[in-house]
Amino acid sequence: MPPTTPPPYYNNDQESFAWKSARERWPVIITQAIDDLHKAVSQVDSDKEAEKFKEGKQLVSNLIALKYEIEHDRKLEPFSDAKGDLHNYNDELAKIPLDHNTWLTAPWLYSECYLYRKIATFIAATQHWQNYDVFYKQKMSTFKSSEDGVKELAMRYHQLANQLSSKSTDDEALEVLFREFIDISLWGNATDLSLLTSISLEDIKALQGAESRKKNEKNILANELDSAWDVVSNEREGSRIDIVLDNSGFELFTDVVLALFLLDSKLAETVVIHPKNIPWFVSDVVPADVLHLINQMADSEFFPNADREHMDYLVNKISDYHTEGKIIVRTSPFWTSCQGFAEIKPDGPAGGDGVWQDLKDSNLVIFKGDLNYRKLMWDLAWPRDTPFLNAIDDLADTGIRVLTLRTAKADTVSGITAEQEKQLEDESVAQGKEKNSWSWSGKYALVQYSEGSTL
Ligand code: F6P
Ligand code: MG
Repeated sequence: MPPTTPPPYYNNDQESFAWKSARERWPVIITQAIDDLHKAVSQVDSDKEAEKFKEGKQLVSNLIALKYEIEHDRKLEPFSDAKGDLHNYNDELAKIPLDHNTWLTAPWLYSECYLYRKIATFIAATQHWQNYDVFYKQKMSTFKSSEDGVKELAMRYHQLANQLSSKSTDDEALEVLFREFIDISLWGNATDLSLLTSISLEDIKALQGAESRKKNEKNILANELDSAWDVVSNEREGSRIDIVLDNSGFELFTDVVLALFLLDSKLAETVVIHPKNIPWFVSDVVPADVLHLINQMADSEFFPNADREHMDYLVNKISDYHTEGKIIVRTSPFWTSCQGFAEIKPDGPAGGDGVWQDLKDSNLVIFKGDLNYRKLMWDLAWPRDTPFLNAIDDLADTGIRVLTLRTAKADTVSGITAEQEKQLEDESVAQGKEKNSWSWSGKYALVQYSEGSTL
């Protein structure tokens, strides 16, 4: 971490969402994972699959022990027998000041990544549960309950695609559509599952309709989409756009629709999407989720009320583009490391170097969601009027064009004015809430851009 930067948000900072996350949300998230595994284990025949049954029981005990360690504020221990990216976790842990080395005092970003990485080590230590995703059922059922939003967007896209192919759409119209699909993908991020502990399904549905997106326009606190449009519209031939994904289900659906639009409109020739390698922050996309999404869209029992004509159209389009190598799915262990994105550079650790090699060939890299935004700023407590380019540190200079599509669900924010911040704080307080709660609510968004070089 660069030396002249502000401190990170810590779990013992009562004014930060870190405090609530570590104390209220994590125990709920782990309990849900325990319940899920418990059910899965109880379906294993303990006579016929004795080893699987035993391993499953062990997994449940490991999760119970993990929850206990968090709730009792135990010290974060280095990973034993560390291999690969775990070395890097241990190296970073060694740098954490001693008065911040327990679960409830640690840097929020590090400890939250450590939590999900730890769960993945439990799974990896088994033989029979290697592909088990403790969050899959939650991801699936929330996607199912997004049927109204999926239906609306599938219909909208199908109608539009017909227009796109029937006549050459002029640039003015393309720009309007680009803005619309970006907007849909942006607000798709407001519905991630790790917040489900405090948001109802009804709220989620309300966030997914066109009408509510319109209403939310004023809630985009910084909007630098114009710069991204300039790049996208001027560099069409051979252009590659990357999407560093966030959540599965409805958000992934909106991201895939954005990819279809970019390809159908010929604004891009390829779109590379980057999911995580391991289950992450409850709802993040792993490669299997991409496949699940397509299968669920194709399944009339999964979405009984959807219009098959529109859904099948989208399913075929996605499959065709994937087969033709125009939609590419690519993972890296870097996305589940504890590193900030300033380490996406030629000598970056934990796979940051490989990601830099890859992304430097992209015309634009879209970073979806809150966690990616936190990592862009290393979750540091920058004064919120710090320019975005300062807050992303080295990444502003490594030749990678960045666009953030983030609804704010954590403290880290840059690039707004002191007046905006004051007003948002006053509003929160007037509503009887904590002064910083505006930045955790998912109600406000940040669309920020970096050209990749200040030279
Ligand atoms: O604030 C809740 C939280 O789980 C944060 O810990 C995390 O940064 C974020 O939500 C995850 O949101 P997203 O899915 O948008 O990255
Ligand atoms: Mg997420």
